[in-house]
Amino acid sequence: GCAEPRAPPASSAQIRYSIPEELTRGAFVGNIAKDLGTDVAKLAAANLQVLSDSDSQYFSVNVNTGVIMVSERIDREQLCGQNPRCFLHLKLAIENPVEFYRIEVEILDINDNPPEFPSDEVSLRIYELASLGARFPIQPAQDPDVGTNTLQTYHLSANENFNLNVKARTDGGKFPELVLERALDRELRAFHHLVLTAEDGGSPPQSSKIRITIQVLDANDNHPVFDRPSYGARLVENSPLGTLVVKLNATDVDEGPNGDIRYSLSSHNSAALRQIFAIDEQTGEIRVQGNLDFEEATVYEIEVEAKDMGSPTMEEHCSVVVEITDVNDNAPEVILTSFSSSLSEDAPPGTVVAVIHVRDRDSGEQGRVQCHVSPDLPFQLRKDYEHQYSLLTSTRLDREHVAYYNVTISASDLGSPPLSRHTTLPIALADVNDNAPQFEQASYEVLVAENNPVGSVLVTVSAADPDSEQNSRLSYSILRDVPISTYFRIDQDNGTIYTMRALDYEQDKVFQVPVEVKDAGSPALSSTAVVHVFVLDENDNAPTIVYPSVPKGSAFHQTIPVLAEPGYLVTKIVAVDADSGHNYLDVGRAGLTSQAQNYTSCFSPMSDQSDFLFNRGIKTTLLFSPQQAQPNTDWRFSQTQRPGTSGSQNGEEGGAWPNNQFDTEMLQAMILASANEAADGNSTLGGGTGTMGLSARYGPQFTLQHVPDYRQNVYIPGSTATLTNAAGKRDAKNSGSSGGNKKKSGKKEKK
Ligand SMILES: *[C@@H]1O[C@H](CO)[C@@H](O)[C@H](O)[C@H]1NC(C)=O
Repeated sequence: GCAEPRAPPASSAQIRYSIPEELTRGAFVGNIAKDLGTDVAKLAAANLQVLSDSDSQYFSVNVNTGVIMVSERIDREQLCGQNPRCFLHLKLAIENPVEFYRIEVEILDINDNPPEFPSDEVSLRIYELASLGARFPIQPAQDPDVGTNTLQTYHLSANENFNLNVKARTDGGKFPELVLERALDRELRAFHHLVLTAEDGGSPPQSSKIRITIQVLDANDNHPVFDRPSYGARLVENSPLGTLVVKLNATDVDEGPNGDIRYSLSSHNSAALRQIFAIDEQTGEIRVQGNLDFEEATVYEIEVEAKDMGSPTMEEHCSVVVEITDVNDNAPEVILTSFSSSLSEDAPPGTVVAVIHVRDRDSGEQGRVQCHVSPDLPFQLRKDYEHQYSLLTSTRLDREHVAYYNVTISASDLGSPPLSRHTTLPIALADVNDNAPQFEQASYEVLVAENNPVGSVLVTVSAADPDSEQNSRLSYSILRDVPISTYFRIDQDNGTIYTMRALDYEQDKVFQVPVEVKDAGSPALSSTAVVHVFVLDENDNAPTIVYPSVPKGSAFHQTIPVLAEPGYLVTKIVAVDADSGHNYLDVGRAGLTSQAQNYTSCFSPMSDQSDFLFNRGIKTTLLFSPQQAQPNTDWRFSQTQRPGTSGSQNGEEGGAWPNNQFDTEMLQAMILASANEAADGNSTLGGGTGTMGLSARYGPQFTLQHVPDYRQNVYIPGSTATLTNAAGKRDAKNSGSSGGNKKKSGKKEKK
């Protein structure tokens, strides 16, 4: 019953009905009998028919009653699409009279469709740096209904970044789009989930939704960030290579390459620092790759940067402070700031030899230094101030005792364990002329035969001087004395003394040559010695027996007791050699012994030797030896052997042998006289000629003081005394010379 009756036409009536779509089969559309004003009986007689060229399949007509009903589902959207005017037509005819009726059925829309999106969801990818106002269209929803039943509005779920804008098209379409109202930040929210709802205007309205997923694409809009503003580390010096200093950690909230970090040392680190530290660009680990030396640097500040791999890249910097801890790895150093390797031996105690600077590059106790000098040397250290010492002499020095010192200075620090170092200073003492040269002997005695060749070597005197260099360079000289210097000269370099002329015994028998040695120091030091030169003559006299006294040509007779025991002393015999005389000087000297007065006892061939025996111990021997102060034991008597006052036999011969001082001097006088006789050629035994007496044998230089005192060496056998007795030399000599021979004395005075 929704049909609306309309006014019928005159002959060819047209009737219009309106029905909604989607009515069920049999639903009433209209009653044409009623609407045409015809009664039902008449309608049935008129043979009502439905013409088939119409949309007859949708309807059924009861020809008896004229009622039209829906016979098939009517879908307006299928019939008419989006055309809001939708009609179906039905043509009817009657026969008697023939009339045509045209019936128009308007199909009215009902809201039988919701708006629909082409898919349930949609994804958008939006660059995070997209500018505000940027639009992002969404595929629209479709609603086949028309009129208010079709799509009317869109709704966007609440969000912070997007607004919805709907573009209305001239064809009535409504196109939704997202508009960026607030900047995206991928790092804040990388995905946005929105819901867009489309709704029609039906009653009730229908709607549908689409899920919109927005992925924010990363932009390199963040720099790397270190997890600390700065880093610190502490390392001991000399840490091994590869030691981890610190591990840096930087992050970058960007993604992909924009967040991929590489570490490096900043370019403004010094080259030296770059040799010591290395950073792993991937892990951010800083490790030691060079020598950490506290003495080079106690702290390092490493500038580090972290860069991402975005384009353009973004970077960040931070610093790493590395403190180095000292270890005792430096031994003290000893530096000579002033040093004189030569020191005068007369330097007083306390003289500064060297100034020493010590240092230790370590710090703290490890850098504190103590100094010591080798003990037992005449040197000491004085601390001037913290790092300076002076090396001083501590006692007097003597180069002749120790000429050279190796002074070792030890410096050690207070580290644990301590390190030390030694320096040795060679110190040579410089000589001072503090020693005079000394001759090997204070006096020299030389015997030289007369008529010596000119220029022959007399003797070499030698001196030594413990000083050095100039101070020990010696030169010899004969202290100037005119007569002497015409006889002798000395080699000033080696002290060899030469004769300058042949010596004449008759002229000069003794010389006293004073020699001096002098060093070349400044001032020079010197000393002297004396060389005694004795001139010797030749041996031209035979010995003669002077006791017992026997007239020339006769034999000596001596009576002995009949009952003389074996060993009985018969007599003593004394002989002299005029050639040697009383002077004779140094008979022990080599080469002159042949002239010595050694006499061998012997019997004449006719003697009956069986009854006599020479006691060798008491053989009659007169010895001269100025060298020998002591009597020779060969001819020394023991108390029992001594003839005269004592002995095994009571041999008081009386006069047979001198037994007192007087007799001794008498004997001596005899000896001298005999000798002089021989010298004068008067001796029966002396075969030589012209041998001079004693006084003539010494030159003008000769003084008593320098004549060897032969008397002390004249031993009178059987006497306890020598000619040197308690009476004194001079007395003895006087008695010897004056009591000897007047002629000799006269000669001496004459000279
Ligand atoms: C001393 O020097 C002279 C001249 O050089 C030389 O003939 C002589 O043999 C030297 N004497 C000694 C003992 O060396």
